[in-house]
Amino acid sequence: MKRHDKLKKLSREHQRALVVAMALKYGPNPPQQLDWPAEPDKKRIKFLEFVDAELLRHLQEEENTIFPLAEAYSTTGRRLCVTLGMEHELMRKLVSEIRTAQEPELSELLIDFGLLLEQHIREEERELFELMPEIVPPFEMAEL
Ligand SMILES: [Fe+2]
Ligand SMILES: [Fe+2]
Repeated sequence: MKRHDKLKKLSREHQRALVVAMALKYGPNPPQQLDWPAEPDKKRIKFLEFVDAELLRHLQEEENTIFPLAEAYSTTGRRLCVTLGMEHELMRKLVSEIRTAQEPELSELLIDFGLLLEQHIREEERELFELMPEIVPPFEMAEL
């Protein structure tokens, strides 16, 4: 089924976030073609630039727009958004820890964040974004 413009926009942001997740989850050995620093302090700087420029707003946008609709129109959607919302909270908590962490915790937190971010995006793309067009009436999607 053709995806709504709002979901397409969020999916484009997911593609960028997946690159960040890859750069983080391999710890000291980020895939070379990503061109990310391996050194934890430098990696943190690049990571926080992405968080502050894009990720925190992305989480808020999902919570303000698509989560309430998915919750309103289906039990599955409600269950899914409870989990996804808890993951958003966990990501925010990890970000604030990452801002001030020292080694060796910093390296571990960056890997944890990468794994969580990747898994979260897969859930949204494979479950929530597939479900939305089936449960939310077109007029509601048009309002987004
Ligand atoms: Fe999300
Ligand atoms: Fe998302």
